[in-house]
Amino acid sequence: MRIDIVTIFPEFFGVLDISLLGKARQSGMIELGVHNLRDFTHDRHRTVDDTPYGGGAGMVMKPEPWGEAFDEILDDEALVIFPSPAGERFTQATARELSEEKHLVFGCGRYEGIDQRVIDHTRGRARVREISLGDYVLNGGEVAVMAMIEAVGRLIPGVVGNPASLTEESHEDGLLEYPSYTKPSGWRGLDVPDVLTSGNHGAIAAWRHEQQLERTRRVRPDLLGD
Ligand code: ADE
Repeated sequence: MRIDIVTIFPEFFGVLDISLLGKARQSGMIELGVHNLRDFTHDRHRTVDDTPYGGGAGMVMKPEPWGEAFDEILDDEALVIFPSPAGERFTQATARELSEEKHLVFGCGRYEGIDQRVIDHTRGRARVREISLGDYVLNGGEVAVMAMIEAVGRLIPGVVGNPASLTEESHEDGLLEYPSYTKPSGWRGLDVPDVLTSGNHGAIAAWRHEQQLERTRRVRPDLLGD
C-alpha cells in the first residue's frame, strides 16, 4: 500500500519510522510519502491560511496549495481522506475497508478547517471520505491520521506477524476483548483465574466469551444494541 500525507507538520510523522509500521516500510509493504503543504505555496511567508469569508473566529486553510499538492500526489487509485470532527465515524470496519486500498492520501487540516472547495474539487477527481476519530475536537488532523494509519497498517497482510492476534482483538467480533494474563500465576495476592491454567480449551473459550459479553455489557452496552 502507498500512503501519502499532506500536512504543515511533517515532523509529526517521524514516529512512523519505528515499531511495526517502521518495519512494514523497511520491508516495502507500506510506502510512505509525507508532504509539507508549505512546499506548495509561492509567497515569501509560505502562507497556508487566511481569514474566513463571512467573518468568524479563526483561520481557514487556503485552497491553492492543496490543489497543487493533490495535482502532484493523486493517481487513479487514490482514496483521499480528510480527518474532520464533521466526518463519518472511524471504526474497525472503516480500518478494514481502508486496509484493502492501494493508495491512501490523507489531508491534514489545521485551524478552522480547509476551504470547502478543496474537498468539493477533490471529489471531482478522486474518491473522498471525511472521517472523524470521535466526538471531540483535536487541534488538527495529524493525531487522527496517526491513529488511522496505525489501525489500518496492522491489518495489511504480513504487517502483524501472527494473524490470529488480529481476530482476537476488541471490536473485531463486535465485542470488547477478554482480559489477558501471563506468568507469574500469583502476583501481589491476585491469582490468574483457574480456568486459564486448567488446560481445558473448551472451558477457556467459553470463559473468554463470557468475559467479553460481561465487559461489553458493562462498559459499552451500545455495542450490543442495548
Ligand atoms: N480533526 C479535529 N478533530 C478531529 C476528530 N475528532 N477526528 C478527526 N479529525 C479531527
